[in-house]
Amino acid sequence: MTKRVAIFISGGGSNMVALARAMQAPDFGAKPVLVLANNAHAGGLAKAAAMGIHTAVVDHRPFKGDREAFEKALLAALAPHDIDIICLAGFMRVLTPVFIDRWQGRMLNIHPSLLPKYKGLHTHKRAIDAGDSHGGCSVHEVTSELDGGPVLLQARVPIEAGETPETLAAKVLIEEHRIYPEALRRFVNT
Ligand code: GRF
Repeated sequence: MTKRVAIFISGGGSNMVALARAMQAPDFGAKPVLVLANNAHAGGLAKAAAMGIHTAVVDHRPFKGDREAFEKALLAALAPHDIDIICLAGFMRVLTPVFIDRWQGRMLNIHPSLLPKYKGLHTHKRAIDAGDSHGGCSVHEVTSELDGGPVLLQARVPIEAGETPETLAAKVLIEEHRIYPEALRRFVNT
């Protein structure tokens, strides 16, 4: 049974594109049926539409910090699409247990660090400032602990002399585009 995947984005959606492209393989076992953004200006929306994927926008701003109301709107946007799995891909809103309890075990995220190190933001700068030999990225299941769920797959990226957060981010993003589709494929087929 082909799993129906919704991908949540906030920006350019390069991870969404990588996931959608990978799912074009006939034996992948999943297909992207919805790309949802929390703002209408997310560049990934046009990329999804160009790939023939249905898009939706649930702007978080009208909810003015009422996270539960925003998440009820997310759930309503998902409802018509019979979604099996959610992939957060550059989605910059923190979800509360109201949403997570409904989707735990069926929701993945890509985080740009070697979890459990550097949960939260500014991961590349923190790794460089700490003098780490490597940065990287992790695909994990989403739980109510921010960036804390079971890790499914990781990629390590060497931190070289003169590395900046920008140069490391660019190297890590390439690995994100490789491991997220692979992690989803394994997740779907286990
Ligand atoms: C990237 O910095 C990535 O590390 C993180 O979200 C950001 C935007 O990714 N996962 P995308 O191009 O919108 O997928």
